[in-house]
Amino acid sequence: MKNRASAASLALLLTACSGHASGERAGIIRGDGTRGRSVYLERCAACHGAEARGSRLGPSLRALSPTWNEKRIFAAIEEPEAPMPKLYPSQLTRRDLADVAAYIDRIAAEK
Ligand code: HEC
Repeated sequence: MKNRASAASLALLLTACSGHASGERAGIIRGDGTRGRSVYLERCAACHGAEARGSRLGPSLRALSPTWNEKRIFAAIEEPEAPMPKLYPSQLTRRDLADVAAYIDRIAAEK
């Protein structure tokens, strides 16, 4: 079960990497933002705040500019810029990453 899940995420990823911008929506199965919220509360809220409005330790993830689409958010978590810690793959599975990116994408435009 677990292996099959990671194989599926890997296949997803490969599709994502080979896709052109216009094929993005067709190629990528989007993360589950609802599940992503629980990943967020567990792994990100300590720094970005329970409502993602920021804290002393991390910036608000609300009101991000529209250039922050789901793909860019995914990349920012996958290969973060210090001082944002690298949580993948030590603390996040590929699925966690996709789901939390979908969650941030969903709330990013909200103030
Ligand atoms: C230890 C604290 C910490 C944790 C835990 C953390 N972050 Fe961050 N995060 C930061 C800091 C600090 C930055 C700002 C980095 C910079 O200055 O470029 C950041 C930046 C970001 C950015 C880019 C935002 C921007 O405007 O540049 C995103 C997106 C983000 N984090 C998402 C997440 C997600 C999702 C999680 C959980 C999976 C997470 N972070 C966990 C501290 C943290």
